[in-house]
Amino acid sequence: MDYINLLNKRYATKAMNGRVAPQEKIDNILEAIRLAPTSSGLQPFEVFVITDKEVKSKIQEIAWKQSQVTSCSHLFVI
Ligand SMILES: Cc1cc2nc3c(=O)[nH]c(=O)nc-3n(C[C@H](O)[C@H](O)[C@H](O)COP(=O)(O)O)c2cc1C
Repeated sequence: MDYINLLNKRYATKAMNGRVAPQEKIDNILEAIRLAPTSSGLQPFEVFVITDKEVKSKIQEIAWKQSQVTSCSHLFVI
């Protein structure tokens, strides 16, 4: 499948099914972020993967109380 086809098939998930995302998928996302172009490999960001319920609740308070912040199994903060 070529890249444009992949982009056409992407979708935004706002409602979760309650299942925990497999670690392999989380690792793949982190690897994709690590390989993203950042100009001379500067990577001027940090990535936090939040799974702690209490921390997610605190973030939800300052993220317009969006439900997906706490209903997801892994919250990526970049
Ligand atoms: C600048 C920007 C801010 C966004 N903020 C949120 C957000 O607060 N919460 C959220 O669930 N998605 C957020 N998104 C993701 C979008 O809602 C959407 O999932 C994403 O752009 C992919 O959907 P699209 O194919 O319609 O572009 C944001 C996207 C962008 C570009």
